[in-house]
Amino acid sequence: MHNIQLKNGQLQHLLCIEGLSRRIIEDIFARADSFLDLENNNVKKTDLLSGKTICNLFFENSTRTRTTFEIAAKKLSADVINLNVSTSSQSKGESILDTINNLIAMHADMFVIRHNQSGAAHFIAKHINKNIKVVNAGDGYHSHPTQGLLDAFTIRHYKKDFKKLKIAIVGDIKHSRVARSEINALSILGVPEIRVIAPQTLMPYGVKDLGVIPFDNLDHGVKDVDVIMMLRLQKERMDSALIPSQEEYFKTYGLTSKRVELANPDCIIMHPGPMNRGVEIESSVADSNKAVILPQVSFGIAIRMAVMSLLMEKK
Ligand code: CP
Repeated sequence: MHNIQLKNGQLQHLLCIEGLSRRIIEDIFARADSFLDLENNNVKKTDLLSGKTICNLFFENSTRTRTTFEIAAKKLSADVINLNVSTSSQSKGESILDTINNLIAMHADMFVIRHNQSGAAHFIAKHINKNIKVVNAGDGYHSHPTQGLLDAFTIRHYKKDFKKLKIAIVGDIKHSRVARSEINALSILGVPEIRVIAPQTLMPYGVKDLGVIPFDNLDHGVKDVDVIMMLRLQKERMDSALIPSQEEYFKTYGLTSKRVELANPDCIIMHPGPMNRGVEIESSVADSNKAVILPQVSFGIAIRMAVMSLLMEKK
């Protein structure tokens, strides 16, 4: 699936993390650093994408991803169209490719696409004019590449050396596109120990093939880790009840302040959002000084600026 996003080693689309080189990820991080420097020097906008039109097509709900893509595009001086899918002609039976091709006829240069079907962004990238760029903003349970990148970028900000880290990803691994993108990004960046912690019903089949260490006991799994990444239960992707109850889940897999004490004293706590307080994470933990959940959101703007500017660069 990843071949289409690269041509002669250059990024053409961003569809997933698999297949990206460490060089490309570090290039994205260096660009994000430069955008953060501009922000810190009170430069609010650059004209890198002036005259370009970016279409946000979100067929699934979003708060963080959609808004930060829009902010990022505007900071690059692009024109942004947020297509309201529920009031678009999709509801009259128009195919997704016809919708896309109509937007291309209106001179769209890039599509940012979220869809509940795994492979949707890849399908679109494969069938449109080669000059038009596609960014996957989350497809089914397959991939959420900019989330994986911004999470790794956040870890790099607080922890510096990926090669010394033990990282735990906790929760509904089975239905999580975020977990897959995080695991891929952190593996490429050289993290030596990635643990995934979930009940058997929320652990994907063949998880060890991803190069991670599975745990079904949260206390054992978070022991001595440097980073804890929490995930919510993705009920919209479950076709049957996979946990006894939310209360039971919190007792066994909820991150409490007592459990945080088992990790390294300087560990950071992450969550891609949306967060369900009292289900996967205790409210006091989410608001503690170890939590970097809101900085993750802010770093998402710089990472998305970096990805969009890289894709639009003449090659
Ligand atoms: N992390 C994330 O994808 O959040 P949204 O669903 O709000 O975009």
